[in-house]
Amino acid sequence: MTKNNNKNNQFPINFLFGVATSAEQSEGKISFPHSITNWDLLYQQNKSQFFNNIGPNITNNISVKYKEDLSTLASIGINSYRTSFSWAKIFTSENCINKDAIDFYHNYIDEMIKNNLKVFMCLNHFDLPKWFVDKGGFENSDNAKYFLEFSKLILNEFGHKINYLSTFNEPSVPIYCGYWGKYHFPQVIDNKRAFQAAYGTILCHSLVVNYFNKEYKKINDIKIGVIFSIAPALPKDNFNYSMEDEKAAEIYNLIHNYAMLDAMVKGHFSNELISFLNKENLMPLFQDDELKIISQNKLDFIGINYYFPSRVKAPTIILDGAWDNHIPILEKYTSVYNWDKAIMNKSRGWEILPSMISVISNIIKTRYDNIPCYISENGIGIENEYNYKKDNIIEDWYRCAFINEHLSVLLNEINQNKLNCFGYHIWTGIDCWSWLNAYKNRYGIIELNLLTEERIFKRSAYWFKQLIKNNCLDDSLNRIETYLND
Ligand code: BGC
Repeated sequence: MTKNNNKNNQFPINFLFGVATSAEQSEGKISFPHSITNWDLLYQQNKSQFFNNIGPNITNNISVKYKEDLSTLASIGINSYRTSFSWAKIFTSENCINKDAIDFYHNYIDEMIKNNLKVFMCLNHFDLPKWFVDKGGFENSDNAKYFLEFSKLILNEFGHKINYLSTFNEPSVPIYCGYWGKYHFPQVIDNKRAFQAAYGTILCHSLVVNYFNKEYKKINDIKIGVIFSIAPALPKDNFNYSMEDEKAAEIYNLIHNYAMLDAMVKGHFSNELISFLNKENLMPLFQDDELKIISQNKLDFIGINYYFPSRVKAPTIILDGAWDNHIPILEKYTSVYNWDKAIMNKSRGWEILPSMISVISNIIKTRYDNIPCYISENGIGIENEYNYKKDNIIEDWYRCAFINEHLSVLLNEINQNKLNCFGYHIWTGIDCWSWLNAYKNRYGIIELNLLTEERIFKRSAYWFKQLIKNNCLDDSLNRIETYLND
């Protein structure tokens, strides 16, 4: 790695480098009593929808190995670490708190602190207890009280040990993957239920943020935020497009990127969204006093998960008469555009476009008042990574280049364009289970041998260690695509 002494290539003092994972994806369940989760339900319904039939029970088992794992991760030089709490392990039923799970999280967090890792925790990362799902989950606004109760318990037990607490990880993803696609529970296509569940999620977030700001903030040095996946939409190739394509990109951004983020960060819904929901007869049920709670949202930071951009064009479906509730409403306004010149991660079908970080930076500065932010997830998932293995080490130079190129744009935004960004987390440290994809695509900088549970550094772990040590970008790498096999 070439050290670059140019000041603009150096990271700010106290910049937080880290890795992220989540409870359901890394902990395993065997050693815990727990409520089964929405993911267990999907597995019970149909195992074969999970890659190689591997469900949520097979993880890297960090709940047993956290001592060694955190010390291994800390040896890379990172200074922060994120995971989430498992609601289903903590509340095994509506009224039953599991002392073993509480003890586990105390030990786990203490170990992060012992390793000098700033503690980033998330209240919810895609997993829900079955008892909550059975009551209607986020579709039933009355259920918000359960999420608040869970959050209060977390704050009272662990608040003094946590540095950054997020209410949700990517709250819009379970909506579009669960109600406009068949990747998350409940695997239906239903526009009305989608917006109702989105609204219920926003209400849960707001109740917690209100409680935190009123009752909790003064007592402890902990910050509250939310983590969002932002995949800005471009009209076609972003050069040759029509006004209709541009309109399609605007609507895509309104629904996919801003609908929930506006409410969760700014406390209100945009006029464009309100007109859209009224026009489409998709306004969720709500109470006026809930809107007051939402309006009081005040966050200390947001996390941004960025993997890929979206490309859209004007819609291809033209339907006469009323829109069918069981066709995703976005298809009325947009359709996916596949650009043949895009640089693709073929394992995932995701385009690689680091320059979007500067588009996101602009969104944060203009739409969200340059709220303090960090990149909470960025990374690349590759199938059959052992094809890149030489002398027992995965030579994942594509991952090093991917991280370096994204960091390069990010650094420019921080140093030149005043983005208020305090950190960068890689998804992920040790390879972990990834929902329906299970272990198809590996994201870690540390390889997990699924059979032996052995952890082996990939090239990127050594490389990241050097980058952190130098505190600046690596100038010696080629472009990402030159490292990827076809
Ligand atoms: C999610 C992770 C997931 C990753 C890779 C992110 O959107 O937060 O849970 O594993 O993408 O697919």
